[in-house]
Amino acid sequence: MSNSENSQKPHDRMASFLKDDMEAVNVLIRDRMASKHAPRIPEVTAHLVDAGGKRLRPMLTLATAHLCGYDGPYHIHLAATVEFIHTATLLHDDVVDESGQRRGRPTANLLWDNKSSVLVGDYLFSRSFQLMVETGSLRVLDILSNASATIAEGEVLQLTASQDLRTTEEIYLQVVRGKTAALFSAATEVGGVIAGASDAHVAALFEYGDALGVAFQIVDDLLDFQGDEKATGKNVGDDFRERKLTMPLIKAVAKADAEEHAFWQRTIEKGKQQDGDLEHAISLLHKHGALEDTKTAARSEAARAKAALSTLPEHPVKDMLTDLADYVVERITLRAARRVPFDCQFLLRQPTNQDDSIAACRPPPSQRRRLGTAQSTSPPTPTFVPACSFRPTEAPLEPWRWTAQERLRHSACHCAVPPATAQSR
Ligand code: IPE
Ligand code: IPE
Ligand code: MG
Ligand code: MG
Repeated sequence: MSNSENSQKPHDRMASFLKDDMEAVNVLIRDRMASKHAPRIPEVTAHLVDAGGKRLRPMLTLATAHLCGYDGPYHIHLAATVEFIHTATLLHDDVVDESGQRRGRPTANLLWDNKSSVLVGDYLFSRSFQLMVETGSLRVLDILSNASATIAEGEVLQLTASQDLRTTEEIYLQVVRGKTAALFSAATEVGGVIAGASDAHVAALFEYGDALGVAFQIVDDLLDFQGDEKATGKNVGDDFRERKLTMPLIKAVAKADAEEHAFWQRTIEKGKQQDGDLEHAISLLHKHGALEDTKTAARSEAARAKAALSTLPEHPVKDMLTDLADYVVERITLRAARRVPFDCQFLLRQPTNQDDSIAACRPPPSQRRRLGTAQSTSPPTPTFVPACSFRPTEAPLEPWRWTAQERLRHSACHCAVPPATAQSR
């Protein structure tokens, strides 16, 4: 391997190694996300799929199938299945978490609505089952259907556990095993199963995926407090605002004095948050070394993942999997594999021009606003209307007022024009 290949991040090295397979997976995803009767399905799905994402889980399936010597076609189906399940859970998750940003774009629930996200998510789940059936393997069906149930179970457990200050690290880890690690371990396990690997090797792959998934989610929760929004494509502080008791908070709560405990009760249990609370929460995490201790916990999961690989056959992807375990912990973020620019969802009509002219809108991050804060009071120029459902020619552009949904959509599109100078009918 050349020096430049060695200096690449493991995720990128794996993406280069699996380039042809990943192209086939992407073609299959495009093909199966289509719908004959409901155009909303490919619209919503493409919004998420075209934004890229790291494609980490399908790469794990492809890599582990290669590691175990597979040379058939079905690892492509399985990788697409895994990414379909992941995409479906993201659509559902952003509804449940009321998130506004995903993969650097406004979430589908914001651009369309909760109903579309839930139903398209359901469609993608069903499509994933069709894909896995095509492999003809009951064993992979068993693994992936169990994983789907476990993910949902983890999400529901989180609903009840995450705003309760008595939640322990053990319960947190149970949630994480369900909502995140179950798909990682299924992704690695089915790679081995489709290749006909021995039971011992399949068990090792499960262990690797489980540990990697737990490490990945712990770090994701860490990044929620100290990540770079540009790099993660998600809002910092979402978990705190959603009152989600993740590992860093659990560690800080365990060391809290009476005053700090009252702070956590107010912000997490009662949900009475005010300006400056997130900053204060972060200062408490620093005070108690909770971020560093959380990272140590993630490192120990990464060590478990690497240890699990030791009995597996030697193969070029084995080193990549080893390095990936370290990298998910040390990452600022994993670079999105296929990130593409996001065009503003709004059409710009110059008042002097009868024809619509579309303004592709890519403002710098400094001009991005948090969701839901947009206000429109005065008559504006020029006129902005949502590209997805409005056309200026459909009706008179008055009154100069935004509906709540339109305000949210506009603030979510990151358009450089402040809502106060934009308008809609
Ligand atoms: C997001 O997963 C959900 C979590 C388990 C934290 P990823 O961070 O792998 O999402 P994409 O696919 O790269 O967007
Ligand atoms: C990730 O949940 C797990 C699933 C999507 C099922 P989170 O809510 O913790 O992940 P992000 O931060 O939204 O990606
Ligand atoms: Mg979420
Ligand atoms: Mg969630």
